[in-house]
Amino acid sequence: MYYQLGLIGYPIEHSMSPWLHRQFLQKSDLPGEYSLIELASEQLLAEKLQQIKHVPFDGFNVTVPYKQEIIPYLDQLDAHARAVGAVNTVVQENGQWVGYNTDGLGYTASLKQHYPAIFQKQTSRVLLIGAGGAARGIFDGLVTAGLTRIDIANRTHSRAEPIAELGDDNVHSVILTLQEAEQQLHYYDLIIQTTNVGMKPNDKTLILSLDNLREDTIVSDIVYQPIETAFLRQAKQKGAAILHGHTMLFYQALYAFELWTSEKVKTETMEQTLKTVLE
Ligand code: ATR
Repeated sequence: MYYQLGLIGYPIEHSMSPWLHRQFLQKSDLPGEYSLIELASEQLLAEKLQQIKHVPFDGFNVTVPYKQEIIPYLDQLDAHARAVGAVNTVVQENGQWVGYNTDGLGYTASLKQHYPAIFQKQTSRVLLIGAGGAARGIFDGLVTAGLTRIDIANRTHSRAEPIAELGDDNVHSVILTLQEAEQQLHYYDLIIQTTNVGMKPNDKTLILSLDNLREDTIVSDIVYQPIETAFLRQAKQKGAAILHGHTMLFYQALYAFELWTSEKVKTETMEQTLKTVLE
């Protein structure tokens, strides 16, 4: 079987996904290709999806700005994609397009790989900063992984409300302002920065100050370019452990690849190689 894979989004010319999936194909000795399908409008998305239905595409990733827009074109949605309301991976299953979301699973996998102890206590206290699509996927992933104390800090309170409601009765979530979160940072075992603040080159803006951070807190940022954001640098200076954003990028891709091919890739040094490529 020759795997026809790809990525739909805009703009995607700098995406790392082709590099990652070509590595996965090579490591698992599978023939195939991963192409970029850059679509500048939703009209083009509709037209492209019609075409794709008639060629043997095995699956594709979906990124900004189409993670929600793609949903009406799919035949089925898996439970996580439905809860999150966004799709980043589409798999062709017996002629049907099925939408998945591997962002949350990718995030928790990266956390388990680097800091497994956080999952030993269901009541580990997590602060999620931001309430966009990325925060929603990560919240769902953390709840699925069994964590029950996940607070959300966001500039706009109302955007955090539907995320806090994603958990069942066991999950306790308080919604905070960024200022409140700043003052209560010492309370948390894990802090996850999910906004795009800090993403521009040489951007020194901090979403919030880490002055009140405990030394044994894990600080994570999902921004991976720059590889070490000002937020992570400040956390390091405070003596905290950090988790870089490229780790989530790596694992969400790995799970997408597994959905398409059922292969468990031996990843070994690949995550480190990705970091070097991004640096
Ligand atoms: P994504 O889907 O990538 O998560 P998004 O849906 O645009 O992107 O969400 C961006 C997040 O970054 C939101 O939490 C947003 O806060 P608001 O909900 O208040 O808009 C946050 N964000 C972006 N720029 C920000 C800034 N300058 N200060 C504080 N928060 C910011």
